[in-house]
Amino acid sequence: MASTTNTNHNPSNTAAEVPSTWRPTAKSRLYDLARALGEQFLKAAYVPRFNEWCRTRAAGAPDFPTRYGLYQHLIDAHGLGGPIDFLEFGVFFGESLRWWVGHNSDPAARFVGFDKFTGLPESWVGLPPGTFSAGGQVPQFDDPRVSFEIGYFQETMVDFIGRFPLSRRTVIHLDADLYSATLYVLTMLANHLKPGDVILFDEIGSGYGVTHEFRALNDVESAYGLRYKVLGGADNFRQGAIEII
Ligand SMILES: C[S@@+](CC[C@H](N)C(=O)[O-])C[C@H]1O[C@@H](n2cnc3c(N)ncnc32)[C@H](O)[C@@H]1O
Repeated sequence: MASTTNTNHNPSNTAAEVPSTWRPTAKSRLYDLARALGEQFLKAAYVPRFNEWCRTRAAGAPDFPTRYGLYQHLIDAHGLGGPIDFLEFGVFFGESLRWWVGHNSDPAARFVGFDKFTGLPESWVGLPPGTFSAGGQVPQFDDPRVSFEIGYFQETMVDFIGRFPLSRRTVIHLDADLYSATLYVLTMLANHLKPGDVILFDEIGSGYGVTHEFRALNDVESAYGLRYKVLGGADNFRQGAIEII
């Protein structure tokens, strides 16, 4: 494992038991009272941004009833049936990965699934850590084009990027649900993205996704100057696809 790989990924870091020298102000105490409403406030900030994104950035982009309709459209109208490198972050039992492997028959295409297969490392929208666990079982694929990077993204991506040239058209499927995981993947890949690469978001516009996947996209867009156009959505833009320009 590369020396720069973060092997200390511990989403449940606890505070040190040392008395704090910090003194709360009246204003900071007031914010403490609103703590339970934090997620609601975050939603109040991101839902209008997402609505605006749909009205402007996604204007004219087709929306399909299901994510598979969107995937098929990307194959038919945007050439994703060719020799792509498909990277999926969040594999679980392999349902979405299986769809792509089954619908892209190009012998040169490569499919890489990233997951630790033990579920979400943090709680998400009230669900506990470990939700979506596959019990550590890696799904079986009888196709030499498929491989897996097993571990937390924070443990596998540095090494992967060091040995896997992202020079071909790359399709990235983000389906890890969490803001932290989505932000990590996008920041790791931001400097490797090139025009034509496609990013699929599985929960960009759901009531849960706006403060996670959509928020991560917003942050990476402003931090890295990511430039993209929206290719389409599914289920009223619950899922979304963008292309780097
Ligand atoms: C919703 S499931 C993926 C579903 C799958 N794409 C499908 O459509 O069937 C989310 C997956 O993300 C994985 N995951 C979330 N955060 C992760 C992280 N930081 N590192 C590795 N895997 C992670 C979980 O283990 C889980 O399998």
